[in-house]
Amino acid sequence: MPTQAVNPAVAALADRLAQLPTGQRPEGFLILGGGYSGLRLGRALAAAGVPVQLTHRTRRRQRDGSTVTVAARSAEDAGRLRWLPFNGDPIGLEGLVHPETVTHLLSTIPPDGNGEDPALTALGNQLEHLPLRWVGYLSTTGVYGDRQGGWVDETSDTSRCRQRSEARVQSERAWLARGWPLQRFRLPGIYGPGRCPFDNLRQSRARLIHKPGQVFSRIHVDDIAGAVLHNLLLSPEQRPAVLNVADDAPCPSSETLAYAAHLLGLGLPPFERLEEVADSLSPMARSFWEENRRVSNRLLCQTLGYRLIHPTYREGFRASLTEEQGNEALAGKDQGRRQSSGLPASAGPSRS
Ligand SMILES: NC(=O)c1ccc[n+]([C@@H]2O[C@H](COP(=O)([O-])OP(=O)(O)OC[C@H]3O[C@@H](n4cnc5c(N)ncnc54)[C@H](OP(=O)(O)O)[C@@H]3O)[C@@H](O)[C@H]2O)c1
Repeated sequence: MPTQAVNPAVAALADRLAQLPTGQRPEGFLILGGGYSGLRLGRALAAAGVPVQLTHRTRRRQRDGSTVTVAARSAEDAGRLRWLPFNGDPIGLEGLVHPETVTHLLSTIPPDGNGEDPALTALGNQLEHLPLRWVGYLSTTGVYGDRQGGWVDETSDTSRCRQRSEARVQSERAWLARGWPLQRFRLPGIYGPGRCPFDNLRQSRARLIHKPGQVFSRIHVDDIAGAVLHNLLLSPEQRPAVLNVADDAPCPSSETLAYAAHLLGLGLPPFERLEEVADSLSPMARSFWEENRRVSNRLLCQTLGYRLIHPTYREGFRASLTEEQGNEALAGKDQGRRQSSGLPASAGPSRS
């Protein structure tokens, strides 16, 4: 797989972090859940020279209840990222290298179907033996529940959250109870390369659904990495226990879809009123439409001085499209190299 470029602003933050004096810089970073957000941060840290170990699953449960096996990953990105298989069972992490240097830990793993936190349930006691100076947990702004379009900030209560987010509130509490120096990052809808409406528009699968007054907040994946790194450059006393990481432009999904279509030069799908099509949506999709709130980033951007890389979906969509096109070009070149070397085009890690 071609090496992914790290956003220059994220790279600059990671470089500054790696150059802090001993005792302040991370000696080793463990990312539980090297998925979309975890891998983005991991790549930036590794490019700056921080040793990074990430977990991924080698078994995944399908919607129909069956289980698929995924090959264990080895070195990726020129060997700078070390992968550990972790399927949520207690035998994980025996492959951890130099545990005595793991000073920083980020968990991106969501609660499981039983409402348990797989990382803490399986690994909590093993993690206690690491010399952790900082622990981060990626949570969701779903914990604030429906606010009928009103603003939420870090002081907003979590007692109104829907059932789906109750497990998340429990996970946050379970991480807190461990007594580590913990920061909880609450995220709205995450987007970025591969998670924009472009493919759905191209394949006529996008839907223009409208509910009057409904907005969604969102964040580009690079700003998740950027916000985490920015926080790590603050002194421990300055780091808030809870931080919302959202962009400046909560808005209707019809607005973001229209902008994506504009970038591609495509027309929009037919207009559908939510109340007329709600029955055709999955329970998960319906539950998103039942929550309407604007997430404030005042603490992150004003008090803590973080400068968003993508202040709105407009910059974020443009950057994502450019990156997707660049990745396609790189993948094409990579395939050409594999074919000319006699290797199958599918060889190697498949994660984007
Ligand atoms: N997507 C959104 O719009 C959104 C919005 C708000 C909050 N969040 C939350 O923010 C966090 C990061 O989001 P993301 O989109 O980067 O997540 P993601 O791509 O789905 O990554 C999650 C990671 O957790 C691992 N994982 C999941 N369940 C596991 C289990 N039972 N046992 C072991 N490992 C498990 C996954 O393993 P594999 O790599 O093997 O898949 C993956 O590495 C997640 O907790 C997510 O729920 C997401």
